[in-house]
Amino acid sequence: MDKQLSDDLPTYRDATAPSSMPLPTWINRRRRRRDFRVLATACLVFLAISAYRIANNTRKSTSTLSIERLHQDHAVCATLRREPAQVSTARDHNKRWVKGTKPLLIRNATIWTGEPAAGTSESDARAGKGWSWISSDIFVDKGLIVEIRPSIALKSLPSDTSIFEAHGRLLTAGIVDMHSHAGLSSEGGLQDDTNEMSSDITPYVRSIDGVDPLQPEMEYIKSGGVTTSLFLPGSGNNMGGEAFVLKFAVGKKNGREEISQQDLYADPDRNWRYMKMACGENPKRVYGKVGEHGPVSRLGEAWEFRHALEQAQQYVREQDDWCTSADARGAENMATYLKQDLRWESLGAVLRGQVRINTHCYTIPDLEAFVRHTNEFKFRVYAFHHAHQTYLVPEVLKRAWGGTPAAALFADNMYYKVEAYTASERAGAILYAHNITPTYVSDNPVLNSQHVVFEAAKAYGNGLPYHAALAGVTSAPADLLGLGDRIGKIKAGFDADIVVWDSDPLTVGAAPVQVWIDGAAQFKDPYELKKSDVEPITPNPGLASELEMSSVSGSIVFSGISYAYPGIAKGKSTQEQHVDNMSAVFHNGKLVCLGTCTGEIEAARSANALVVQLRNGHVTPPLTAFSTTLGLAEIDAEPDTHDGPPPSDGITRAIDGLLFGGKQLAHAYSHGVTRAISAPNEYGFQAKGVSAGFRTGAKHVLEDNAVWADEVGLHYVLTLAAKDETTVSVSAAISNLRGKLLDAINDNTTVTDIPTKDGYAEKAYLKRVINGTLPLVLAAHSADTIASIIRLKSTIEHAILKATPSSSQPDLHVVVIGAAEAHLVATELAAAKIPVILAPLQPHQGSWDQKRCLTGAPLTNGTTINWLLDAGVLVGLSVEETWETRDLGLLAGIAYANSEERLNLNQALDLVGRNVYKALGIEVNVSGGEEWVVWEGSPLEIGGRIRAISGLSGQIDVWQ
Ligand SMILES: *[C@@H]1O[C@H](CO)[C@@H](O)[C@H](O)[C@H]1NC(C)=O
Ligand SMILES: *[C@@H]1O[C@H](CO)[C@@H](O)[C@H](O)[C@H]1NC(C)=O
Ligand SMILES: *[C@@H]1O[C@H](CO)[C@@H](O)[C@H](O)[C@H]1NC(C)=O
Ligand SMILES: *[C@@H]1O[C@H](CO)[C@@H](O)[C@H](O)[C@H]1NC(C)=O
Repeated sequence: MDKQLSDDLPTYRDATAPSSMPLPTWINRRRRRRDFRVLATACLVFLAISAYRIANNTRKSTSTLSIERLHQDHAVCATLRREPAQVSTARDHNKRWVKGTKPLLIRNATIWTGEPAAGTSESDARAGKGWSWISSDIFVDKGLIVEIRPSIALKSLPSDTSIFEAHGRLLTAGIVDMHSHAGLSSEGGLQDDTNEMSSDITPYVRSIDGVDPLQPEMEYIKSGGVTTSLFLPGSGNNMGGEAFVLKFAVGKKNGREEISQQDLYADPDRNWRYMKMACGENPKRVYGKVGEHGPVSRLGEAWEFRHALEQAQQYVREQDDWCTSADARGAENMATYLKQDLRWESLGAVLRGQVRINTHCYTIPDLEAFVRHTNEFKFRVYAFHHAHQTYLVPEVLKRAWGGTPAAALFADNMYYKVEAYTASERAGAILYAHNITPTYVSDNPVLNSQHVVFEAAKAYGNGLPYHAALAGVTSAPADLLGLGDRIGKIKAGFDADIVVWDSDPLTVGAAPVQVWIDGAAQFKDPYELKKSDVEPITPNPGLASELEMSSVSGSIVFSGISYAYPGIAKGKSTQEQHVDNMSAVFHNGKLVCLGTCTGEIEAARSANALVVQLRNGHVTPPLTAFSTTLGLAEIDAEPDTHDGPPPSDGITRAIDGLLFGGKQLAHAYSHGVTRAISAPNEYGFQAKGVSAGFRTGAKHVLEDNAVWADEVGLHYVLTLAAKDETTVSVSAAISNLRGKLLDAINDNTTVTDIPTKDGYAEKAYLKRVINGTLPLVLAAHSADTIASIIRLKSTIEHAILKATPSSSQPDLHVVVIGAAEAHLVATELAAAKIPVILAPLQPHQGSWDQKRCLTGAPLTNGTTINWLLDAGVLVGLSVEETWETRDLGLLAGIAYANSEERLNLNQALDLVGRNVYKALGIEVNVSGGEEWVVWEGSPLEIGGRIRAISGLSGQIDVWQ
């Protein structure tokens, strides 16, 4: 995505972005020559055909029709009339089963079957009754689940049965992600086959034609438990083309006989077909060039849909008339052949009910227009994808022809474009309450599909019942794909797509320890992280209620606190820190007591103070978002909502461009991220300029305490995004920076007390970097670039020593942010005393300079953070996209859960707090800050919720 920085398309790619890179002129020239050759050949063919037509004109009559072909055409009528069948579960083998795959006994698992206990009524099941994890063994043969029963006797099984001891760990059906573009672009986003951009209406193209089974993402997506996906064309076109349901088993190492696209089909019979359509901004943006081709507006899009469907309708009628007539008269008596046109074949099949439509649609106008199309042309849409506004209009969805569509959602990825600016984290819960099915999807590579189960986990945290959240990535998408009697559940007769997890899949950091597809184990030597908690969680029904914020002055008491960050109680009237049931008493926004606080509670009660009883309350310092676009960009895809990009020459200061009051800041704040340090940038952590430290809850920059540091660090970009027209290479960027730093060392102009323009020039900031009063923050992913940074640091330190021989050994204050490949140089980073801020915590191969990143268990031995911690590098966490700032607590939780005890809870919180300040050389005094966040549950866990933020305004914001 890095390369998208300068595109005129939004950074949110949604796999629609065409390459905006102009072809080199030599390629253009060659292409023009080739085009000319094609044209010349076409002219000759045309002349030949015309000559033939003229010569044969006199012979034209029905008798010339081939009887054989007429009968073939008549046979086609049967396929046109075919109704997709219900697949029988009474199979003796799975058609995908590869002979020679041994039978499998998984012993002593704790199983989520995906169904409530037998006899549970539908309304009870919806209300969450009858669902449980059961202890059982499971026997698999011929690619099918054969039996689920405790204590299956080994001697009753075939002698070649292999055994997997689950040791009580949790087992679910393979995860189904019904929105993926996996395999359609090559690693690092180098080549892209996601969208056929030659026309807005391309129902005739097929995603399968672009799927590359050897893309590394096929493997690491599966390492997140994803066994099946709907591989959709992109959403650049109103009608994007046919989609395919594929499984992620590729070649011999995954138990297949061959490497091929066809071998990936989840249903080798291809009973159902699928198609992608898209409404709204994307097609307008891609095609809407006035005077070229449309659509330019939603009005035009509706016409494009209707016009295409009208033609398909006419096509279907002509075919049906022909078939009816051929039935009656005999095919041999027909005067014409059956009309067959590839252009309308698939859309015809849509109108014949053979195709499951999945439509990218966010907003009310888009949803409602599309619902109108379904009624006008009588076809069914199975799911609206992205669907951020569906929660507002359940009744509109229910008017769709043929059945209510589901909503395929992200849990909290929102605000990235205008269409996503009206959205709710509670959308899934609200839709579910309206009997509309929510499913959770990745839109890989928008989100890494490997972690799609995390979307379901967050949905549960935001009020969707536990069973519905798990269904949202298993049985619900399976049903929507018409494969609900084959995949998505652990049930006799179902495909043996199975995941054994290292912890509850709806907890932070959950990873499979093994994955089976059609009964074949997918990982040869899976890495398994040591985890202390492998038990299923107890769903918390309290999450269903929404909390509202209000500001409270006077006294307020929180009791039921089981954790307080060390140092919080210092200077307060009671000091017990690890009492099980502590209370926190605030007065006029200040924490006055933490502990048993008998006297304070008494006083507060007699003053009629609000008393809030918490379960498993936590009190922590605020979380800090470092080097994101928070406060500098509101809607990623809309430049008017940004301060703007840093200039290519010179330096600007974030403090001059801070924008307060948006939804991004409000949501960061309501997730405990009350502090941010942002540097001029438009996208992600790749910033250039001087960062400012501010409070996310402030109203404007002049408000008391709104800004706590005008200037925090000097940032530069050394990722692939460093390359632009003036800086042609990463080495040029490094060279420029080295040159500027050396100039700053050798610059002997004296600084005066009178402010001058030069005091805010790049050179002045660089001089502060040289004299150690400003940290240098460098964005880099590649281990090679990080190695260059380590060399640069030493070069500069050497130069400082030469210039001022009297000085002690200089230590240039460098921080690396991004750092996807930092594990490869972990010991070197530690030796050079360079702190690292990981952004993101869990990289995948989103850009070429992240190619060697670690995607985590079961594929890799942990992720970069563990390697850095082992080497003794100071580590903090950040994110790439602004919406993710709200999840900083959960990300720290993932690091914690997967740290194999390298981190304790305090240290995990430090990743998004104290370590960031330490890395920047900023003194933080936790006990003196007066900013505290009160949580119900842990901020590092799914379902941990904010209950209060003690402000600096004399009030406290309370959620209840
Ligand atoms: C199942 O595994 C758990 C955890 O290892 C163990 O405590 C239990 O004894 C096992 N049960 C059986 C029946 O093997
Ligand atoms: C600063 O350094 C330059 C050479 O780099 C020298 O010509 C100049 O005289 C110096 N100025 C002062 C004030 O030391
Ligand atoms: C560091 O350099 C800056 C800019 O030249 C100057 O304002 C500041 O006083 C210097 N600080 C120290 C400690 O040398
Ligand atoms: C994973 O790495 C750690 C050190 O980071 C090492 O102690 C452990 O043995 C490794 N595990 C495996 C299975 O290689």
